[in-house]
Amino acid sequence: MKKIIQYLNRPLSRRFFLKGALGAFGVSVLGIGKGFANTLRSQIRLERVPIRLERLPESFRGFKIAQLSDLHSSPLVDQEHLEHAVQLAIAEKPDLVVLTGDYIGHTLRTAPGQIHKFDEIYLDQLVETLVKAKAPFGTYAVLGNHDFWSGPEVTERLCRAFETRAGITLLRNQRAVLSKGDESIQLLGVDDYWHSWDLGQAMRRVPMKSVKILLSHNPDINRHLRPAHRIDLVLSGHTHGGQITFPILGAPFATHMNKRYLRGLVRDGDRQTYITRGVGHLVVPIRFNCPPEVTLITLV
Ligand SMILES: [Fe+2]
Repeated sequence: MKKIIQYLNRPLSRRFFLKGALGAFGVSVLGIGKGFANTLRSQIRLERVPIRLERLPESFRGFKIAQLSDLHSSPLVDQEHLEHAVQLAIAEKPDLVVLTGDYIGHTLRTAPGQIHKFDEIYLDQLVETLVKAKAPFGTYAVLGNHDFWSGPEVTERLCRAFETRAGITLLRNQRAVLSKGDESIQLLGVDDYWHSWDLGQAMRRVPMKSVKILLSHNPDINRHLRPAHRIDLVLSGHTHGGQITFPILGAPFATHMNKRYLRGLVRDGDRQTYITRGVGHLVVPIRFNCPPEVTLITLV
């Protein structure tokens, strides 16, 4: 013990200090390199998620929903990355495509400059890509926080481009009915939880006995869902699965309130929520323990 204390108390030589500094620098460079590699398009994972809904009509058994979220078209997420994600989804021949928000970046002053600043070119690239995200029951979308943060004019431009150029239906506190013969399910969509969401508006005149799937960018909407709403499934993104996560420490940069809803499938009584890790990334092109994701949900 005495020897250990003597060893720890000895003065640090310059060589020892330099070795330590070089070692720490090397580990940091390797870590950042690995984190960057994790964001590349080759790392996008297709997650196949079967979800059992007790009240699902017979004719919707095996119904496939491709979910794409948090694309963040910006200087940090290029068009090839987005194209690859869409191709992964479409190759599965989904019945329906849903997009759960955060399509663009916004003005955020971070070193080395305004790396997320909205620019029309990134909206154009996104629309050119999403035009291919077609499915027999259509492509539906809700808005995320980043789709509001460049101001109402940009939000309006995005909505118009989606609807007129990409054939995507925005659900802004609205719903759509998906029918097969005389059976149907209700697809509800609300605006972002930090902005103009209105669940009451989306649920107006919805038959309570029908199966309801709710698109909400932020999974924190769950704080307001009651058993009486009889929502069967919530599809969300926003969290990026934490984007950078560590064993034990968890996800220090996640911005949602309820940490239960970080990623994957969460059950609350009869209601389930699926939170995708998303396609793109924010602030830095780095992901740890959290690869980008395209989701293929099969209702069973
Ligand atoms: Fe978000």
